[in-house]
Amino acid sequence: MENIVIERLLKVLKGKVSVQEVENLLEKPKYEYLGDIAFPCFMLAKQFRKSPHLIAEEITQQIDKKDFEKIEVQGGYINFFYDKESYAKSVISTILKEREKYGSKRSTGQQIVIDYSSPNIAKPFSMGHLRSTVIGQALTNIAEKNGDKTVRINHLGDWGTQFGKLIVAYKKWGLKERVEASPIEELLKLYVKFHEVADESLNNEARVAFKMLENGDSEALQLWRWFREESIKEFMALYDLLNIHFDSLAGESFYNDKMQQVVEELEGKRLLVESEGADVVELENMPPCLIKKKDGATLYATRDLATAFYRMIKYQPKAIYYVVGNEQSLHFKQWIQVVEKMGYEWSKNLHHVPFGMMLKDGKKMSTRKGKIVLLANVLEEAIDTVKQNIEEKNPTLENKEAVAKAVGVGAVIFHDLKNFRLNDIEFSLQEMLNFEGETGPYVQYTFARIQSILEKQPMEKNISYKLEINDYEWTVYTQLVEFPAVIERAYELTDPSIVAKYVLKLARVFNKYYGHTKILEPDDFLNGRLALCECVAIVLKESMRLLGIETPKSM
Ligand code: ARG
Repeated sequence: MENIVIERLLKVLKGKVSVQEVENLLEKPKYEYLGDIAFPCFMLAKQFRKSPHLIAEEITQQIDKKDFEKIEVQGGYINFFYDKESYAKSVISTILKEREKYGSKRSTGQQIVIDYSSPNIAKPFSMGHLRSTVIGQALTNIAEKNGDKTVRINHLGDWGTQFGKLIVAYKKWGLKERVEASPIEELLKLYVKFHEVADESLNNEARVAFKMLENGDSEALQLWRWFREESIKEFMALYDLLNIHFDSLAGESFYNDKMQQVVEELEGKRLLVESEGADVVELENMPPCLIKKKDGATLYATRDLATAFYRMIKYQPKAIYYVVGNEQSLHFKQWIQVVEKMGYEWSKNLHHVPFGMMLKDGKKMSTRKGKIVLLANVLEEAIDTVKQNIEEKNPTLENKEAVAKAVGVGAVIFHDLKNFRLNDIEFSLQEMLNFEGETGPYVQYTFARIQSILEKQPMEKNISYKLEINDYEWTVYTQLVEFPAVIERAYELTDPSIVAKYVLKLARVFNKYYGHTKILEPDDFLNGRLALCECVAIVLKESMRLLGIETPKSM
């Protein structure tokens, strides 16, 4: 409908304003009694040398009023009141025609890189990494919906001083058989033990061990490789469950042989200075960025620098997004400023997309103290709870296993994504699985409800539909229309919660409508109601897909 308004206005204003100008000026009135959309004429006053009110009057006299209930002047505004039936029909026909492509943008031909998930080898996949994984995955889907191509990279934490610690701990206390039986659990125990007993000399041993690893010592390398392979196996099982695939698993170790070049360039540009034996780059308004330690060992930041150069050359992206917790904000500010100081324009295309913490009983979860909620356990528990629920309420359901998986996993993902990413979130299995709350299962349930309506009475494709538009129905239409703008905003603000909140609202207004309407009543409007149901189902499903969540047909 907005397109119709633009088109009609342009017809009257022939060549005096551009499509873009009209589009930008149009606004949604604050109150419903002021119409569905309004065109302010204040900007035109100078050009036309008339008062905004007079301009509004003149345009309104000339404009074609078909498809509108009325068009009124109010001050300097032209208020358009849609003819609800033609409006609703245009919504339905668009969605039925475009289906899951509704809201998709044409390909931009451009590419972005998204760095997300990135768990650390030999450490469990924590709920904290889950945040990066699901936010990153949703952003990737949203970017593609907006027409960009994506490269999905899991920047595995497979290098760094922690491997020195682990090698020392394994050699002191580790048992091969135990590690083989349950690799990550056992490696975590060793890591925790190291931190419990670590003193000056043990820490020194660990530093030496890491240095040997960096120098290619074969025993150290062999242990490291083994830790890495076993860990990846466990991670992959989780990604399968979450339905997540990466284009690349090039982690930190991949850049070992690519750092020297960056260090040399820094030297060449006279940016490296010595500070207490270490090499650093001095920065404005923040502590210096550490590039090389006293013993020559490189750091996390050095690897991120090498990584950025590699990706810019290999993928030529218009931007790189790093979905990493906000506790690393300083790290990203620092090394990105180093790139800027090296004189690269593209430093402004590197974006840290931070997020808040996952809390348990209001406190941070930490790996070092072994106080940690494991994603694998959480998913298992969520799926089991859903399974029990199905056995109680719907024991004859087909594909129980698959449904329990979709609902359990979906609940965990949705709980994370419905919050603005920078907010800390409290971990609560009970809240995630509440079928009546603001949850994934609630949305999935709404979708399944529509499927069962349409199964009883499929919509007739070739029969034209008559619509009877009461207030409940109208809110559903206006909500459906929002979808394309929601997709755009979610990308602009790199914020999947915009989509999650949207889909909750769509489910809510639909359920309200459902509660007040006999959808299957065999009257003249039946097919119109079925068409609306079908459209809601399409948009619910597509929104959930963007969030990385499945929608089973029944549950
Ligand atoms: N492995 C790191 C961690 O768990 C996150 C890596 C994020 N990506 C990056 N390019 N620094 O803290």
